[in-house]
Amino acid sequence: MSAEFPYVRPRRLRRSPAMRRLVAETRLHPAELILPAFVSEGIAEPRPITSMPGVLQHTRDSLRKAAVEAAEAGVGGIMLFGLPEVKDAVGSEGTNPDGILQQAIRDVVAEVGDRLVVMSDLCLDEFTDHGHCGVLAEDGSVDNDATLARYAEMAVVQAEAGVHVVGPSGMMDGQIAVIRRALDEAGHQDVSVLAYTAKYASALYGPFREAVNSSLKGDRKTYQQDPANAREALRELELDLAEGADLVMVKPAMLYLDVLRQVADASPVPVAAYQISGEYSMVEAAAANGWIERERTILETLTSIRRAGAEQILTYWAVEAARMLKQQ
Ligand code: PBG
Repeated sequence: MSAEFPYVRPRRLRRSPAMRRLVAETRLHPAELILPAFVSEGIAEPRPITSMPGVLQHTRDSLRKAAVEAAEAGVGGIMLFGLPEVKDAVGSEGTNPDGILQQAIRDVVAEVGDRLVVMSDLCLDEFTDHGHCGVLAEDGSVDNDATLARYAEMAVVQAEAGVHVVGPSGMMDGQIAVIRRALDEAGHQDVSVLAYTAKYASALYGPFREAVNSSLKGDRKTYQQDPANAREALRELELDLAEGADLVMVKPAMLYLDVLRQVADASPVPVAAYQISGEYSMVEAAAANGWIERERTILETLTSIRRAGAEQILTYWAVEAARMLKQQ
C-alpha cells in the first residue's frame, strides 16, 4: 500500500505549459475587456495622470487615436469620462449637448463605433464644483430625487450623441428605472444600461480623483455601499434588474471578489467588474519598485476577477492586456 501513496497526484495536470493550458478553467479574451478613458476640454496635449502611470487625460484627438488602438487590439468596449473646463453646482456641462463628454461620444462612435461598444459614465461628479455624484439639498446632503431628474436628462443627451451603453455610477436609488424610462420616452430603446449595481465607498478611488480633476471634499459614504456589507449587493441587484438593467457591475473588483461571486451566481444578465484606479496604481507602484513582476501580476489580477464571475472587465490595462493575450 505505502508504495502506491499518494494515490492521487494533482501535479500531473500541472507538469507542462501545454498541459496547464489544456486544463485551464478560466480564459481571458480581449473582447471582454473595456477600456476606461478620460477626455479633457481645453488642453492642447494629452496630460499624464501622476498617480496612474501610463494613463492620460486625452484631448479629443488623442482619444480618437486611443480608441482606434483599442479596437485594433481587439478590446470589446470603451467607457468614456468627460472633464469639463467649467463646473457648477448642478453639473450643467453634463447635459450640454456640446459638452466634452457628448463631443467625445460623437468622435469615438464615428471613429470606431462599428468595432467597439461605446459607453459613457452617467454621473455628475466630473461636472459638479462640489464633486458629488448628485445635486445637493440645502443642508448639503446629496438629494436623491433631484439628482434622478439630472440623470434622466444626461441619459438622453448621451444617447442623442450616439452612445451605445450608459453607465450610471452615482448609486442613487431608482436611477436605473428613471434612466430607462427617459431613454425609452425619447425613442432610445436601443441604448443599453450598464448598472453600477454594487459600488462600494472605497479608498481605492483616490487616483481617479486626480484623473478627473475632482473637487470632492469628504466622501461618498451616504450613497456608495459600506465595505462591510455583502448582502445589500444582492438587494441592489434585485432592484437594478427590476428597474431594467441590461448588464450589472461590481466595483471595485479585487477587494470585492466575494461580492462578485455572489452577484454572478444570482444574476440572469451579464456581470461586469471594474478594476479601479487604485487597483491599477498599487500594481504599477509595486512593479516600478521591482517588487512584483508587472505583466504576470496584471494577468493574474484579471484572471482572478474573471474566475470570481466577471464576464466583462473594465481595466486601465485593457489594451496592453489584449496585446499580451494575443501573443499567448
Ligand atoms: C463616478 C465614478 C468613479 C469611478 C468611476 N465612476 C469615482 C467615484 O465613485 O468616486 C472610479 C473609477 C476608478 O477609480 O477607476 N463618476
